[in-house]
Amino acid sequence: MAPELRRFHGRRLARPLTRRRKELLEHLLPRLRVPLPEQGTLDPRALFTALPEEVWLEIGFGGGEHLAWQAEHHPEIGFVGCEPFVNGLATLLTTIEEKRLSNIRIHPDDARLLLARLEPHSIGRCFILFPDPWPKARHKKRRIVSTETLDWLADAMRDGAELRLASDDADYVQHMQDVAGTHAAFRAVRIDEATTRTRPSDWPATRYEEKALAKEASCRFLVYARKPRN
Ligand SMILES: C[S@@+](CC[C@H](N)C(=O)[O-])C[C@H]1O[C@@H](n2cnc3c(N)ncnc32)[C@H](O)[C@@H]1O
Repeated sequence: MAPELRRFHGRRLARPLTRRRKELLEHLLPRLRVPLPEQGTLDPRALFTALPEEVWLEIGFGGGEHLAWQAEHHPEIGFVGCEPFVNGLATLLTTIEEKRLSNIRIHPDDARLLLARLEPHSIGRCFILFPDPWPKARHKKRRIVSTETLDWLADAMRDGAELRLASDDADYVQHMQDVAGTHAAFRAVRIDEATTRTRPSDWPATRYEEKALAKEASCRFLVYARKPRN
């Protein structure tokens, strides 16, 4: 069942937008926006002019630094980014225009609305990097890494597809390991403490990682894989 929008608890807008950013939101975003079907499933490969080898998904891309880097380094892949925060969307749109990236499509809303519609086996990799930690006990149910999210991803991801997770919040890292480590559809690829303190070279830093490092917090970079279906 599709989640209801009122379940999204993050910020939609922080700072006023410049005229240029408003123009990009008005004119470029509609061209890149993922059209969600009211019923049935969406094949994300069909969103791209040239059929991509695979589609990779980023949930909560913030300012889109990681998404744009991946898109630039993997022109054969189609990317779908989910982000309801308007200032972050405008930052990514600016990068898309400056770098002339043609392989990114955007779902400017709660990722769960898209997850509930994705065609099975349609996602080749998924990134959830530095998600909002919701540290208070009464807010932990708001965390995007949850059994419900992983159930949707288990349907949408192809066998062997990587799920990459990162956080600088030790409690959220434990939560990720509890949720993904006990999910029947995922196996751990990269979870041991020493290895996961280093970010792999094909995984650029995000703005939140930089903020965490400035506070001398330590970050963890976890990888799981979709188990083969029987
Ligand atoms: C702490 S920020 C991290 C942003 C980026 N990944 C980074 O590392 O810099 C978390 C982001 O997730 C977004 N977010 C929160 N809930 C979301 C949801 N349900 N669907 C999509 N994005 C979400 C927020 O708007 C926010 O931009």
